[in-house]
Amino acid sequence: MKNLARKALKKNMNKLVAANIKMNILTLAERERYFASLKEEFRKRKVENVEIVLCPPFVHVESFKKNIKMKNFFVGVQNIFQEEKGPFTGEVSAPMAKSAGADYVILGHSDRRKYFHDTDEQINRKIILALKSGLTPIVCIGENAGEKKSGKGEEAVFRQLKGCFKNINSVQMEKIIVCYEPVWAISTNNPDHLPTSNEIMTAKLLMKKFIVDNFGAKLVEKVRIIYGGSVSSANVEESCVDSAMDGALVGKESLAPFQFAKIAEAIGKN
Ligand code: PGA
Repeated sequence: MKNLARKALKKNMNKLVAANIKMNILTLAERERYFASLKEEFRKRKVENVEIVLCPPFVHVESFKKNIKMKNFFVGVQNIFQEEKGPFTGEVSAPMAKSAGADYVILGHSDRRKYFHDTDEQINRKIILALKSGLTPIVCIGENAGEKKSGKGEEAVFRQLKGCFKNINSVQMEKIIVCYEPVWAISTNNPDHLPTSNEIMTAKLLMKKFIVDNFGAKLVEKVRIIYGGSVSSANVEESCVDSAMDGALVGKESLAPFQFAKIAEAIGKN
């Protein structure tokens, strides 16, 4: 089963490994050190068939774009606002992110849902604006601990899929990357808080079913579905490779280029 799943994946497209740097890299000096270490680690390794998407805080976007000029490397942002311009103090819109050098945007992350109360409706609006500006959305979908405990995980995943992808057409859907990110598995040091490869694959199949039902069978092989939640070089085989995911969204370990490059290498190899 595992081999079959891997083979099926191989026929597909490039995998994608995204770094969700979150609110880290506090100074320009730290940023320089990050660039140097990232370049060194990726030069040492053979990372093939993988798109690497680095998503720093907005203030670093231009500099990431200018400084990381390696093959298959892209820059993304961690959010955009649900309007394009106007009196929205403190916000950044899709065209601004694009013109600063971003090609991707993480949307619907659980930090955003938790601290900024992003709703599926707003995420839907952001997806539409991102696509309009030429940004590829990486849309996070996943149940929280309470939903999982009460047996409502699947329901939560479907609800988010339905809300986030409302009125999205097949042409738009083909460009979207869906990230299964169970909220209870994010940034945990407890191995018992990690889903098994079977659980991750089951979530992927659920998402595929949603895509088939809403966009047709042809599209399903074109939409990349990645996994996020405490991905590390130690668990990448189980969390992303055995579960036949199309890549990973990496938080904490993306701050350590040595680990991040190892994750990307493992995903590209399989
Ligand atoms: P983590 O973060 O890898 O630290 O769990 C992933 C994320 O929040 O996107």
